[in-house]
Amino acid sequence: MSEPSLRVLLAELQIQDRIRELGAQIDADYPNGALHLVCILKGACFFLADLARAIEREVIIDFIGISSYGNRKTSSGAVKLTKDLDTAIEGADVLLVEDIVDSGVTLNYLVNVLQQRKPRSVRIAALLDKPERRLRPVEVAYVGFRIPDEFVVGYGLDYAERYRNLTDICILEEPRLA
Ligand code: IMP
Ligand code: MG
Repeated sequence: MSEPSLRVLLAELQIQDRIRELGAQIDADYPNGALHLVCILKGACFFLADLARAIEREVIIDFIGISSYGNRKTSSGAVKLTKDLDTAIEGADVLLVEDIVDSGVTLNYLVNVLQQRKPRSVRIAALLDKPERRLRPVEVAYVGFRIPDEFVVGYGLDYAERYRNLTDICILEEPRLA
């Protein structure tokens, strides 16, 4: 079987420009004090690294792990915590940093988990949003790009753990059956 092909959807410069805008918006929106950035592993790690540097206020960085899609392209619908935060978030302004919102199952679950720890606020920053695919409601305060219902890879996003290190975000196209 031949390899799937990659088509650029969002180029590196476009992504970086948009992240600078998001950082400025976040700086303007929050009251003084540290912002607690919670990166959802693993896909959001590049977005976290660039977004954190686009924010000028003090930030605290932490990571949370959840069960992923495995090697499939569709969600199992079930979410499991595989790594918890290292820091307490009670009274904190928390910004969950995610690569892409698809069904909304992951973020709907995580927002509920974090709310139970009594932070001052919880908001979401997602680089990509596929609104057509939503199954659970999630309010995304900061969206980088709304994209069509295509499977994308690169800039942290994977298919079966591959392609995360592409600098552009690309649509993964399956080879057509002959
Ligand atoms: P949700 O719970 O369905 O919203 O799933 C969100 C997670 O699914 C993201 O954090 C990604 O890991 C993964 N995901 C959803 N769509 C894509 C895609 O197009 N490419 C790669 N991963 C995706
Ligand atoms: Mg993810």
